[in-house]
Parts: sequence; structure tokens; C-alpha cells
Amino acid sequence: MRRSLSLSVVEALLLVALIFEAQLWAVKGNSHCENLKPLEVRPHSVTITEFGAVGDGATLNTKAFQNAIFYLQSFADKGGAQLFVPKGRWLTGSFELISHLTLLLDKAAVILGSEDSSDWPVDDPLPSYGRGRELPGRRHRSLIYGNNLTDVIITGDNGTIDGQGSIWWSWFRNHNLTFTRPHLVELKNSTNVVISNLTFMNSPFWTIHPVYCSHVLVQNVTILAPLSSPNTDGIDPDSSDNVCIEDCYISTGDDLIVIKSGWDEYGIAFGRPSFNITIRRISGQTGSSSGLAIGSEMSGGVSEVYAEDLRFFNSANGIRIKTAPGRGGYVRNVYVSNVTLTGVKVAIRFTGQYGEHPDESYDPKALPVIDKITITNIKGENISFAGVIEGIEDDNFTNICLSNVVLNVKKNPPWNCSYVEGYSDLVSPEICEVLSESIYPGHFSDCYFPISRLQTSIGEDRYALLPR
Ligand SMILES: *[C@@H]1O[C@H](CO)[C@@H](O)[C@H](O)[C@H]1NC(C)=O
Ligand SMILES: *[C@@H]1O[C@H](CO)[C@@H](O)[C@H](O)[C@H]1NC(C)=O
Ligand SMILES: *[C@@H]1O[C@H](CO)[C@@H](O)[C@H](O)[C@H]1NC(C)=O
Ligand SMILES: *[C@@H]1O[C@H](CO)[C@@H](O)[C@H](O)[C@H]1NC(C)=O
Ligand SMILES: *[C@@H]1O[C@H](CO)[C@@H](O)[C@H](O)[C@H]1NC(C)=O
Ligand SMILES: *[C@@H]1O[C@H](CO)[C@@H](O)[C@H](O)[C@H]1NC(C)=O
Ligand SMILES: *[C@@H]1O[C@H](CO)[C@@H](O)[C@H](O)[C@H]1NC(C)=O
Ligand SMILES: *[C@@H]1O[C@H](CO)[C@@H](O)[C@H](O)[C@H]1NC(C)=O
Ligand SMILES: *[C@@H]1O[C@H](CO)[C@@H](O)[C@H](O)[C@H]1NC(C)=O
Ligand SMILES: *[C@@H]1O[C@H](CO)[C@@H](O)[C@H](O)[C@H]1NC(C)=O
Ligand SMILES: *[C@@H]1O[C@H](CO)[C@@H](O)[C@H](O)[C@H]1NC(C)=O
Repeated sequence: MRRSLSLSVVEALLLVALIFEAQLWAVKGNSHCENLKPLEVRPHSVTITEFGAVGDGATLNTKAFQNAIFYLQSFADKGGAQLFVPKGRWLTGSFELISHLTLLLDKAAVILGSEDSSDWPVDDPLPSYGRGRELPGRRHRSLIYGNNLTDVIITGDNGTIDGQGSIWWSWFRNHNLTFTRPHLVELKNSTNVVISNLTFMNSPFWTIHPVYCSHVLVQNVTILAPLSSPNTDGIDPDSSDNVCIEDCYISTGDDLIVIKSGWDEYGIAFGRPSFNITIRRISGQTGSSSGLAIGSEMSGGVSEVYAEDLRFFNSANGIRIKTAPGRGGYVRNVYVSNVTLTGVKVAIRFTGQYGEHPDESYDPKALPVIDKITITNIKGENISFAGVIEGIEDDNFTNICLSNVVLNVKKNPPWNCSYVEGYSDLVSPEICEVLSESIYPGHFSDCYFPISRLQTSIGEDRYALLPR
């Protein structure tokens, strides 16, 4: 803070103006939210009861879902079709979606995941992971599944999709599992996906997993699982691009939103990055994990991430990057702004030694590149540690830029930094020495402020006032 306070008033005002502009740009100019098409209105609709489904919470309706979707296939080239799930409790095993389909839930509709693991078929591992995430070999298929699709909408009037995951959590805790646990929703290699206006509960494993997807909108959903439930991540965009996640409330046992792109040598070989990811207006709570995280699987690369208007409370970590030697890949051009943290143990956390490898064949010399990460406009109350920012020896994380960060911190030292390089302005409590050099004016272009792209589109005129 001491050095930051030496900014002149004029400089400070300019900095604030820059930060403000950058925010405007991130909201208006770079949203992967607006350019998604308006929702398709389907010319044809059926109700799940027409296919013999019984909403008593006890009858298994897997066949009804499969038959309804099989029937609707004939409308794919006629504008697509809608499958309506009315009021009731609809028990089912895994079922597979098709292109040009809307799955629409009534307000009082609850889709319940079967508690019999044989209702969740087993598939080959993802090529970018090489094995199941928690156990070697194959993995159970998600309750709601799609592969090679386009134009899919899963929506409702706040209807519920409940994975009844507690049985899976206890199988996990008792080491009873043969295969990796299933997600609640997984869409693979699909484009133009909308998931909106629903509540997702008690996923056996990660809740919403778009993998190898493009143009995905997740909007206005609630995701709930007990804070103690194992690996119940909220939303995991994985090797996916042009993703927008907005207006969600998430409270689960693991990371609320976490961007991934494959695991060690498998992720490096597959080489499909996650990029163009917008995340905004998210709030929630996690027990032992993070509000917003990147990694630890990031071997295909993660870039162009814009996150803003986030509010996390009573959680272990606020914003986190996790990686390890062996991952390879990169995380770059990440801009996180306007985050309010309350009762969070570590506000900002970078972990370079996360560990966890798929097998012994990973290459410990495959070092990840972590570069140009900007974290700005952060407020925190009741924080234990401001930041634990740890890179990798001989593989410094670079251009880590923090500005306008004000945290009410209990522990001393508030910041721990190692193997990182970067800059900061207006950080309180005073940041660690290695990040203390001012961003402004000399290092502004070393940091990732999305505004810097405007210079090429609108020209440099608006910067004429800034001393250089
Ligand atoms: C992805 O889906 C498209 C069709 O939608 C298909 O042509 C392509 O081969 C699929 N790729 C993979 C890796 O499955
Ligand atoms: C998806 O596309 C891949 C590659 O073309 C193909 O091998 C696979 O069978 C397709 N899967 C489905 C469910 O269509
Ligand atoms: C969010 O969903 C609820 C019900 O699911 C709906 O009433 C509300 O209008 C939605 N809000 C937006 C912004 O879509
Ligand atoms: C949707 O339902 C969930 C769970 O009951 C509730 O917490 C949430 O507030 C509801 N969302 C809206 C937008 O009504
Ligand atoms: C699960 O594991 C426990 C001990 O680890 C064992 O006692 C129990 O029989 C197993 N249950 C099933 C369904 O395999
Ligand atoms: C969510 O629900 C609201 C209210 O019914 C509706 O206006 C909006 O279009 C829905 N959004 C999506 C993305 O389905
Ligand atoms: C990334 O997002 C920008 C801004 O929305 C868009 O112009 C660009 O085409 C996207 N890039 C790719 C490769 O999709
Ligand atoms: C910051 O985010 C909060 C939501 O957490 C929102 O209410 C507020 O308007 C945002 N502030 C700015 C300046 O955008
Ligand atoms: C601080 O946050 C912790 C949770 O991290 C919570 O248990 C505690 O009650 C909070 N203290 C105050 C004074 O709000
Ligand atoms: C910070 O570093 C000190 C000294 O290396 C260490 O004792 C402490 O445990 C670290 N704190 C955290 C939260 O990692
Ligand atoms: C790595 O960063 C540290 C500061 O965190 C710095 O002292 C060291 O010189 C850097 N190493 C290299 C190779 O640049």
C-alpha cells in the first residue's frame, strides 16, 4: 500500500478510469452471451406421458425418455421438437439427447436419477483424460447425455434435475466404485447448447460438463449439493470455447465454476483448448474448494477468460488457478473483475504443485505457461489469507497483475508469493515484494487489460491523455 499511495491523485484517477473502461469493454464488447441466437421455438412437441412415463418417483422411466427422443428424431429436419416433462417425479436412468431438441421441464417437474448404478451405462474415457478422472479405465455416462449434437436446449420454469447422488458419494467413500462416477449433464462435441432456468441437485460427480463443445450458454440456473459432498463441481467447461455462464447461484462441495482442458500427456496430445469464456453475475458457496477456478486439468490450454460480478461467501478459496509440472499447456489472458468475497479463507490462490497425474507416463518436464492474469476490483471481508500465489520453480508465472484489491485479512503475512512475477496497484494489505512494482504506467501493456485490444480497433486517441 505504501508504494501505491505514492501515486499522484491524477494518476490514481486515470487508473480508476482505465479500470472502469476495461469493465465496460468486458461487459459490452466481449460477451459470448449476446451473440448466441434467440431460443428456437419448436414446431412439434410431445409430453413424456405419451410414451408411458409415470411420475410417481418409483417407476423407472428410462425407456419412456429413450422412446420419446427416438420418436422425435423424425422432426430434426423440420425445425426440431420439444419433449415436455410435466409436474411429477420422474425416475430415470441415463438417456441420450438428439440435435434440434428442447427438453422442457414444468415448474413442478423433477427428473430423478436412478439409484441403481446399472442404469448409468459405462463409456470409454475421454481422449483428453486417457482414463476416468477418479479411477483408471472407463466411466459412467451422465444422466442426461449428448454427443455430436447441435442446437440443444435444456430448460424449464425452474424445474429440477436431481441426480440423487448421495448413494454415489457413499460408494466413493467406501471405495465401492469400479468406474469413475457420472456427471449429471454431459454434452460432448456439441455446438449451440443452451441450459437455462432450471435447478440441478445432488450430482453424483461434476454437475454440468460441456466437453469439446462450442457456443454454450448456461443461464439462470441454480446448482445445489451438500457442502461436504465429494467432487460435486458446479459447471466445468472443458476443452470448450465461446461459452457464457451467467446469472447462476451455485452451492456445492467442490469448485463452483472451473475451466478445464484435459489432463497431462493425454490433454497435451489431444490439444483442444478452452477459450472465449465469459462468466458473470455468479454467486455461491463451496466447502473446501473455489468460487472460480482454472485447472487443475488445463493441458490443452485455457485463454481469453472474462469473469465479472462474482460474489462468493463462506468458502475455502475465491479465485484459483491450479496446475502442476506435467500438465504442459497454458493459462493466459484471464481477466477477473468485481468480486466480493465474505468469509473466504484464501481470496486469491495460485497453486503450481497441485499434483494428481493420470499415470506414471506423464512428462515432468512438461511445464505449464501461466501468463497475463489480471485480477481487479476485489473486495473481501473476513478473509484469512489475502493470497497464496505459488508458481513453479524454474517456471515462473508471469505478468500476474492485481489492482484495486481491498481485503480485510486476519492472518500475517497476508500474502505468500513464490515463483511469480507481476505488478500491482492499490492493493491492501500491502502485497508481497515480488508483485509490488506498479502496473501504471510502465507495465500497463504487460498486464492483460482487455481494453488494450481497443487500441487496435479505435486507435490510440483515447490514450492521448495518458503520460507514457
Ligand atoms: C463431432 O461431431 C461432428 C458432427 O456433429 C462429427 O462430424 C465429428 O466427427 C465429431 N468429432 C468427434 C471427435 O467425435
Ligand atoms: C460422433 O462422431 C464420431 C466421429 O465421427 C463417431 O465415431 C461417433 O460414432 C459419433 N457418435 C455418435 C453418438 O453419433
Ligand atoms: C430465471 O428463471 C426463473 C424461473 O426459472 C424465471 O422466473 C426468471 O424470469 C428467469 N430470469 C431470467 C433473467 O431469465
Ligand atoms: C429455483 O428453485 C431453487 C430450488 O428450489 C430456488 O433456490 C431458486 O431460488 C429458484 N430460482 C428462481 C429463479 O426462482
Ligand atoms: C462397500 O464397501 C464396504 C467396505 O469398504 C463393504 O463393507 C460393502 O459391502 C461394500 N458395498 C457394496 C455394495 O459393494
Ligand atoms: C428463462 O425464463 C424466462 C422467464 O420465463 C424467459 O423470459 C427466458 O427467455 C428464459 N431464458 C432462457 C435462456 O431460456
Ligand atoms: C472469440 O470471441 C470473439 C469475441 O466474441 C470473437 O470475435 C471470435 O471470433 C471468437 N474466436 C473464436 C475462434 O471463436
Ligand atoms: C459488481 O458485482 C455486483 C454483483 O456481485 C453488482 O451488483 C454490481 O453492480 C457490480 N458492480 C459494477 C461496478 O459493475
Ligand atoms: C468469518 O467467516 C467464517 C467462515 O469462513 C465464519 O464461520 C465466521 O462466522 C465469519 N466471521 C464473521 C465475524 O463474520
Ligand atoms: C506462507 O509462507 C510461510 C513461510 O514460508 C509458511 O509458513 C505459511 O504456511 C504460508 N502460508 C500459507 C497460507 O500457505
Ligand atoms: C522468478 O521470480 C522470482 C520472483 O518471484 C525472481 O526472483 C526470479 O529471478 C525469477 N526467475 C527467473 C528465471 O526469471
